Amino acid sequence: MRVLRGILMSAACAAIVSAAEAPTFYKDVLPILQNNCQGCHRLGEVAPMSLMTYGETRPYAKAIKNAVATGKMPPWFATEGHFKNDKRLSPEQIATLTAWADNGATEGNEKDAPAARTFTSGWNIQPDVVVEMPKAFQLPTKGTINYKFVLVKTNFDHDMWVTAAEMRPGNNEVLHHGKVWVRPPGSHWMENAVPGEAYENETQRQFIGSNRGDEGNDILGKFNPGLGAQNFEIEGAAKFIPKGSDLVFELHYTTTGKGPAEDASKVGFVLAKNPPQRRYFFNAGPTALNLAIPPRDGNAEVVSEITVMEDMKLVYAQPHMHLRGKDFELRLIYPSGESEAVLKGKWDFEWQQGYEFAKPIVMPKGTRMVAVTHFDNSANNRFNPDPAAKVIWGPQNWDEMSNVFIGVTFDAKIDPDTVFRRSGVSMLPRGDSGPTLAALPAR
Ligand code: HEC
Repeated sequence: MRVLRGILMSAACAAIVSAAEAPTFYKDVLPILQNNCQGCHRLGEVAPMSLMTYGETRPYAKAIKNAVATGKMPPWFATEGHFKNDKRLSPEQIATLTAWADNGATEGNEKDAPAARTFTSGWNIQPDVVVEMPKAFQLPTKGTINYKFVLVKTNFDHDMWVTAAEMRPGNNEVLHHGKVWVRPPGSHWMENAVPGEAYENETQRQFIGSNRGDEGNDILGKFNPGLGAQNFEIEGAAKFIPKGSDLVFELHYTTTGKGPAEDASKVGFVLAKNPPQRRYFFNAGPTALNLAIPPRDGNAEVVSEITVMEDMKLVYAQPHMHLRGKDFELRLIYPSGESEAVLKGKWDFEWQQGYEFAKPIVMPKGTRMVAVTHFDNSANNRFNPDPAAKVIWGPQNWDEMSNVFIGVTFDAKIDPDTVFRRSGVSMLPRGDSGPTLAALPAR
């Protein structure tokens, strides 16, 4: 009976190999898990199960084989472009995990194991400065919570250059994602807010005002499950926190359904030893505030544009759409007229992924940054809250957004208030659809 089953299996599955060459957990599988999976698959992180030890991994052998063979894991949505944080597996690595699952998922010899990856619980960086929300935010048991904004008066008394930052939830069961912004002196954003209180755009705009890119507001740290710390030290760049700045925590909470909860998130950052030559700056990038998606349109195009007003380098891009998003492209149109798609991919609302360019991309003054996105507002989109709606720009999931957040570096002496200008299709009034590529001037 045994023999027979063995024969049937080997006929059905070409991956069967002899015991001597069958991959083992310690020798072959663990190194892959360490580099490509454990960032998320460990206790307290985003994934539902830990893949740190043999005991934890063995029950998932078949699931792992399926997840990597279908490309579901590790999650990655770019189809064009070259990125440092691309964790996709090579065909050889996929074959190794498949062969391991097909050959009894054996443990092997612990002596073959690579050194364990250590994860500091608490921080992925060694912060010099930590700022925590002064008051915990209280969550009810259930219901939807709008995005919250909390002003934290830090009044930093000297200029600071920051090489790395990390936002940490106080309670990662409820913080879905968040950002910590630098609000430099002179910015009017949240000037009527009581520090420490949580406000929302939908009902309390009078306390929040508007977050304008041209007032120098800049993202210091972000939290998305599995994201880790942000490193600004690209070609020696650092992020600038001007003297007198405060911080604004932007928080997206989800209730647990199990009972009331609270969260006081924090941000930590590492200071540069010396003032840098280049400044790392974050911006909302090309943004389609004028977007309109017709009812029931299964492939609605929305295009937006900004022009860069100084020489700079593009180092990071993070597309942003909501439930009807389908795909995205970031296209650079250089002053020479040449154009290049530096990032293309499929949109997946569950994963707000960011892309770190393998090499900084030079954008001479006058380069136009164009975001091309498509939306599925048909009933075929199972996430669509209402196919009958004409959808416009707005903060809620049933509204839409279309922009590509960008990280750039430029000469540290340049004032960030003037480095981007909204241009092209983004200047058009809202119509019944679009704006689309058809409205894009050739030059
Ligand atoms: C960026 C974070 C992240 C990384 C990196 C990641 N995973 Fe996951 N994984 C998740 C999350 C979150 C889920 C649960 C949600 C889901 O299934 O989409 C999951 C689910 C899974 C599942 C269950 C799949 C299913 O169909 O139910 C398997 C198996 C898995 N991961 C294996 C892996 C392996 C193997 C790697 C590395 C090669 C990996 N993951 C890398 C976050 C991650």
